[in-house]
Amino acid sequence: MQEIIRQLDEKRAKARLGGGQKRIDAQHSKGKLTARERIELLLDEGSFEEWDMFKEHRCTEFGMEADHTPGDGVVIGYGTVNGRLVFVFSQDFTVFGGSLSETHAEKICKVMDHAMKVGAPVIGLNDSGGARIQEGVDSLGGYADVFQRNVMASGVVPQISLIMGPCAGGAVYSPAMTDFIFMVKDSSYMFVTGPEVVKTVTHEEVTAEELGGAVTHNTKSGVADLAFENDVEALMMTRRLIGFIPSSNREKAPTVPAIDPAERLDFSLDTLVPTNPNQPYDMKEVIIKMVDDGDFFELQPDYAKNIIIGFARMEGAPVGIVANQPLVLAGCLDIKSSIKAARFVRFCDAFNIPVVTLVDVPGFMPGTTQEYGGIIKHGAKLLYAYAECTVPKVTLITRKAYGGAYDVMSSKHLRGDVNFAWPSAEIAVMGPKGAVEIIFRGEKDDPAKLAQREAEYKARFANPFVAGARGFIDDVIMPHETRKRVCRSLSMLKNKELENPWRKHGNIPL
Ligand code: HXC
Repeated sequence: MQEIIRQLDEKRAKARLGGGQKRIDAQHSKGKLTARERIELLLDEGSFEEWDMFKEHRCTEFGMEADHTPGDGVVIGYGTVNGRLVFVFSQDFTVFGGSLSETHAEKICKVMDHAMKVGAPVIGLNDSGGARIQEGVDSLGGYADVFQRNVMASGVVPQISLIMGPCAGGAVYSPAMTDFIFMVKDSSYMFVTGPEVVKTVTHEEVTAEELGGAVTHNTKSGVADLAFENDVEALMMTRRLIGFIPSSNREKAPTVPAIDPAERLDFSLDTLVPTNPNQPYDMKEVIIKMVDDGDFFELQPDYAKNIIIGFARMEGAPVGIVANQPLVLAGCLDIKSSIKAARFVRFCDAFNIPVVTLVDVPGFMPGTTQEYGGIIKHGAKLLYAYAECTVPKVTLITRKAYGGAYDVMSSKHLRGDVNFAWPSAEIAVMGPKGAVEIIFRGEKDDPAKLAQREAEYKARFANPFVAGARGFIDDVIMPHETRKRVCRSLSMLKNKELENPWRKHGNIPL
């Protein structure tokens, strides 16, 4: 028996060493942690249960039969994050560059299948040279098996991807189908084809970092949700994210004991909106002052900044926040911001997280760039997302809610449950100046008359009371009582039930 135990210990030690100390040192010298070190940091101490430590590849091409590292370049299993079950796979770059073989893929599929069965998130720590070149189509088949599971798990269990090294070729499509992508600055990149192929095909010269680094995907493409300085920060923030989301679509998001009083008033909000309608203010201030303890977990903070998305808690219960940001492009909805917010609303809806929407929007962005880019189709995504959304929806209009954007931003007409407005709200088809220039076109040479018309229009429409008179606004509230009123609304809606008609799936404009 002792000999057997010795052999087991030896096998485990070999597996733990992955591709060997030299490659581990090389990994560390790049500022990266190893696959196992990452799991240790991600999960609660001592909670990791590893599977398939001894699994090996079956490839016999290119001398591969002589090279069998137990575990085959990926560490898989389950553990807990703050006591809650999660499944994890962590690619080991020290073994064949973390490349994906048929057996490597089988291991990833194993944790995904279990996660689906028991209803728990899957966290993928990606650090891989892509398809294991020696395996050819077996490796491609392995990727497709993972892709298929990504799609089946979408909206069933949360899927989170951390990109902590290379992620190239078709390999980017597995993370792309997960709910959140976190990247590490200077050590991770994602692209469909690398700089060399780019140079050959398009003659563009670009570095890997410029083409698909963390900053690129967090500012230009919107592929990633957050960028972090190093592995440790990315892992800690993943633990924080897990705290806001439920384990599966069968559960509600986990609540924490509420310390911040629900009835807390904040009088500084009464003077936040400037008198001049063209002067911006920071919508984040409303969010911070409204949510529990000012704690807001923002996603995509550096992409499409004209809309803000992220998680917070109200009375200890997680909510998704969507808010126009008047500081950027006056809070206009454009292609990027519509897509950004639409996907977030759909995540919240799939996982039973109420949506709180803060509105200050002058409309959709005009112009050829937007029209040629398909603002009609992409703007419709946000409209579609809000309209199909059945979780509790609380909306507050702080200032402008003009035109189609009024309808889109979780209006009463799209089944908004509780719709509030501050006294500074202006709900109309368009701003006063534009409106009178159209309806009183005949008076355009008479500035005094036009100014008078504008004042009349403003008095009539630039307020929340016309919408209030129709019941499209449930109440006009004082800014200082925002938190109290939103908390009460969410509490009232706690047991909301609403179902959409049966269908195979809708056909969201893509
Ligand atoms: C097998 C691989 C590998 C791969 C790396 N290695 N990628 N082995 N298959 N795809 C091995 C290397 O041979 C090397 O082995 C070790 O991993 C570390 O690689 P290095 O090149 O020394 O590391 P580094 O300089 O950091 O460069 C990392 C890299 C580079 C940028 C990822 O290795 C690279 O370009 N690899 C190929 C990437 C690629 O083209 N993949 C296929 C993409 S297509 P030794 O023994 O020397 O340490 C794809 C299709 C998916 O993925 C389709 C899904 C639909």
